[in-house]
Amino acid sequence: MSIGIKSDRLRSEAFLAKVMSAEEAAKLINDGDIVATSGFTPSGYPKAVPLALAERANKGEKIEITLITGASVGPELDGILAESGVIKRRFPYQTDSKMRNSINAGVINYADMHLSHVPQFIEYGFFGDIDVAIIEAIAINPDGGIVPSTSVGISPQAIRNAKKVIIEINTSQPLALEGVHDIYLTEKPPFRKPIPIEATGDRIGTAFIPCDPDKIVAIVETDITDKVRPLGEIDEDSKKISRHIIKFFEGEVAAGRLPENLLPLQSGVGSVANAVMAGLVESKFTNLTCYTEVIQDCMFDLIDAGKVTMASGTSFTPSSEGQVRLYNNIDLYTKHCVLRPMEISNNPEVARRLGVLSMNTAIEIDMYGHVNSTNIMGSRMMNGIGGSGDFTRNAYISIFTTVSTAKNGDISSIVPMVSHVDHTEHDVQVVVTEQGLADLRGLSPRERARAIIENCAHPDYKAKLLDYLERAEALPTKHESHLLDEALSWHAKFVETGSMK
Ligand code: COA
Repeated sequence: MSIGIKSDRLRSEAFLAKVMSAEEAAKLINDGDIVATSGFTPSGYPKAVPLALAERANKGEKIEITLITGASVGPELDGILAESGVIKRRFPYQTDSKMRNSINAGVINYADMHLSHVPQFIEYGFFGDIDVAIIEAIAINPDGGIVPSTSVGISPQAIRNAKKVIIEINTSQPLALEGVHDIYLTEKPPFRKPIPIEATGDRIGTAFIPCDPDKIVAIVETDITDKVRPLGEIDEDSKKISRHIIKFFEGEVAAGRLPENLLPLQSGVGSVANAVMAGLVESKFTNLTCYTEVIQDCMFDLIDAGKVTMASGTSFTPSSEGQVRLYNNIDLYTKHCVLRPMEISNNPEVARRLGVLSMNTAIEIDMYGHVNSTNIMGSRMMNGIGGSGDFTRNAYISIFTTVSTAKNGDISSIVPMVSHVDHTEHDVQVVVTEQGLADLRGLSPRERARAIIENCAHPDYKAKLLDYLERAEALPTKHESHLLDEALSWHAKFVETGSMK
């Protein structure tokens, strides 16, 4: 078969015999299979084989799988497979609207997880045995070594543990990405060694994922691009949040609690997270480093401005414009970035040791500092906890941001009690909204409540929150007081009337 994959991508003639169409490769996946794939935020996920798998189901064949990825993936994998009823169970993170709707309709069994736990779950078989790994790659080395594309995620563990490996060679992904990856696999306890990363840019592994060539059962060529999303304009609220954080960092440097070039920054997903990092371009900080999960557009700005010297992550997650920028300046950005397996990019031990400054976004935060990042009104899954917990609990300073209201002011994002807890008061050190910043370090619950209400709540809800707090504190138990019949009444009121006011 003439396949158009040049020898610079398929580096041994022996692999030619395994090249087949996406339709043929999709036939190697069986009903009931546990499938682990590459992909992390819509980057580097397989596309052609999932589309062909959906076609089988659309033609009436019963095929239901468990799907495990690094994090969210694009519509060709999550969206189309959810729509065609192929996915029965899903781990550990998603952002696709069709997938989200099926999860919230109870059609797909989904569990969101700390991302750093997923590789270990695969290694120990906690999900069951991995039947098939489907991995997007830019090349296969003569010994079977897989060169990943724009993300690494769980690919090393998926390949190591799967019975069968299907490779999608994506020719839309430039070969110049080769060398940006640093693949390091840990052993199981009690033989696990310390991960020898002492600085964000340390390279400790190989530029490819080891793979037994005999496990490769299919190689499919595709040129379907990563379905990255446009990034919204940075709004005024996000800019204010960014300014509060930068001022806080300046204060920490002045107090001698942070070095002049800060400590490695971790920044979450979404527009607020991007805005916070973008704000650093204008700041006086230089020689910054990042030990984070996703490398978004703002990182390219920071590299271009000479502000960031090294960024470690597990995926490039550019916007549509950022993707063009990445491909056009690939040599520059790969020099300043390293993509690691998510077991390493999100590793709690490394994050604690490097002293990461974590910045993640909440849906809502309560007056004592508990954070809900995932479930709207305590019930409706948005995306998942992702890596936010991996970094938050282990950060040197953990920061949560949220805009103080949502839905045109009908929701206060600062509430008496969160309707779901992802991060507890013990993990959350700093809360920031466009209104201001509450530094919770060293404060008791009663002090925390006042700091959050005074500094972070929207003026429309401040008096109501203070009234709740004072009435709760009038009860005999005054440590972390709540009015139990009222604690979630704000949410109940919103569900009933469309407003918390
Ligand atoms: N109550 C109810 N809904 C709320 C809300 C609140 N307090 N605050 C926000 N929302 C809604 C918004 O209205 C929006 O709804 P829509 O989709 O219907 O428009 C939705 O939640 C998302 O809000 P948005 O302001 O667009 O947020 P974002 O893009 O900055 O994302 C999170 C915010 C929390 C959803 C996102 O950061 C996330 O998934 N975090 C968890 C995972 C994570 O932190 N990963 C990074 C780890 S490295």
